[in-house]
Amino acid sequence: MLNMRLLLKLGGIAATSRSTRVFYDRISPFYELLFTDHLSHIRTMVAVMGEEFPHGIKVLDIACGTGALSRRLEERGFCVTGVDFSFQSLRRLKQATNSIRVIQADAATLPFGSASFDVVTCMGAWRHFPVPEVVLHEICRVLRRDGIFFVGYFPPKLGGLLSVPRGPLGEAIVFFYGCVMRLLKYNDRTDPEMESQTLQMIELAFTKYRRIQSGKEAEYLIVADSPRLGLELR
Ligand SMILES: C[S@@+](CC[C@H](N)C(=O)[O-])C[C@H]1O[C@@H](n2cnc3c(N)ncnc32)[C@H](O)[C@@H]1O
Repeated sequence: MLNMRLLLKLGGIAATSRSTRVFYDRISPFYELLFTDHLSHIRTMVAVMGEEFPHGIKVLDIACGTGALSRRLEERGFCVTGVDFSFQSLRRLKQATNSIRVIQADAATLPFGSASFDVVTCMGAWRHFPVPEVVLHEICRVLRRDGIFFVGYFPPKLGGLLSVPRGPLGEAIVFFYGCVMRLLKYNDRTDPEMESQTLQMIELAFTKYRRIQSGKEAEYLIVADSPRLGLELR
């Protein structure tokens, strides 16, 4: 059950922040109280990674926010670096644990050398990237030659919170939401094409990929393996 008081606060912040980064800075104190749908996907991702990778491997968690995924990966024994452009979210993550390296940066310009990480993760943030091809290009660059990219999930709910009916009414709501987002200067997509478009990009950028069912509906995580070197995605 959504907390009405927090929901109203969220609405006020959404109406006045005028940028995705400022929005996440301002909601960081209660982000993890409101946005809980993705926790089951985080559990799936951490469980799969725990089974497949040895302790100590280097993981980059892109758009890590307050660290809902990063903290669990670190608890599992991985050496985690978190990147986000929201300073306040990173501050909260740092307050929760000191053993995760955090860096404030845009996902489109990752401040790391080539082949620096064994695994890159990105949870619930793909919908915010204005040009996801550029982010994917950066991910391929910072991953080792046989590195793995985990991405999940693509929220079927508006803003990650509100369910939308199927059919023409749902399409109209998503369209209207897109217009409001543009008006308020946010990057946030909820259209059904986002998932298939991302898969197409991943197919081009990686040697292979698989999908892992995660969640009650047709929700899944994408695991992509071995970036194709030198691929020009931009
Ligand atoms: C829905 S939250 C997800 C946070 C975290 N991954 C989780 O699972 O709880 C989206 C995050 O993406 C970050 N973000 C959005 N666009 C970004 C960008 N271009 N570069 C870096 N971070 C970005 C926001 O600041 C926010 O923390």
